[in-house]
Amino acid sequence: MIKPTNILSNHPKIEKGKALIEIRDVQKSFGDNHVLRGFNLDLYEKENLVIVGKSGSGKSVLIKCFVRLVEMDSGSVKVLGKEISELGQKELDELRTEVGFLFQGSALYDSMTVRENLEFPLRRHPDKLRGEKVEDLVIEALESVGLAHAIDLMPAELSGGMKRRIALARTIILRPKIILYDEPTSGLDPITSKEIIQLILDIQQKYNTASLIITHDMDCARVISNRMVILRDGINYAEGTYAELVQLKDPKVQAFFK
Ligand SMILES: Nc1ncnc2c1ncn2[C@@H]1O[C@H](COP(=O)(O)OP(=O)(O)O)[C@@H](O)[C@H]1O
Ligand SMILES: [Mg+2]
Repeated sequence: MIKPTNILSNHPKIEKGKALIEIRDVQKSFGDNHVLRGFNLDLYEKENLVIVGKSGSGKSVLIKCFVRLVEMDSGSVKVLGKEISELGQKELDELRTEVGFLFQGSALYDSMTVRENLEFPLRRHPDKLRGEKVEDLVIEALESVGLAHAIDLMPAELSGGMKRRIALARTIILRPKIILYDEPTSGLDPITSKEIIQLILDIQQKYNTASLIITHDMDCARVISNRMVILRDGINYAEGTYAELVQLKDPKVQAFFK
């Protein structure tokens, strides 16, 4: 892996605290398509870590491996200290309440109102109510994304940006320690993209979550990241802050900044 040697960055660097996710030598193939070829990564407390990679490079497969929506072929993924391949279904469900996942698109339930979409995870995990009323948590989550007034709308009545916000509200309602974002700005216009990026930063501040953000949008990566990893050829090809990576002479890294 390429690591910058000349550190001239004034980017916000996070002190590396406790590792919340530890990924070692993850491999995944689909038939002859060897997508992940030994990927390594740590996600630390409170950081915004961005993984960039070209379309089809394996970004979605990679983050789905972290919560076993895709089963890796070999390697090790520890989330909050637990080796995920060893978990039974109940423990896995429990762990998934600690790890929010914002899917590419939004994945709202189209037949449910916004309120019902947000109630859904709380009804499945009543232990997460923290002594509060469902309605109060729904309203608080909606206020966090600036959409309290949309509570009784159906997904079909929402714009793309609003859907993304509601999906984010549904993710934070269980107060996850980690949020995984798969292409949070894809399909959005530049202004709405900026709003979603700001919202991700606000949510991280408010709830002290660590975020792992997958994107091919280098503007998003530049604004949001404390640290970046380039996924290329199935591995963590290069790592550093945006300012560090942009200076690397390696043509495969430079290709991302053109
Ligand atoms: N369920 C699947 N079955 C077969 N191939 C898959 C599956 N999911 C992903 N792939 C392949 O894995 C590669 C990486 O996909 P993906 O992780 O979705 O890329 P991206 O970086 O754009 O998110 C692609 O070649 C894709 O076709
Ligand atoms: Mg993808």
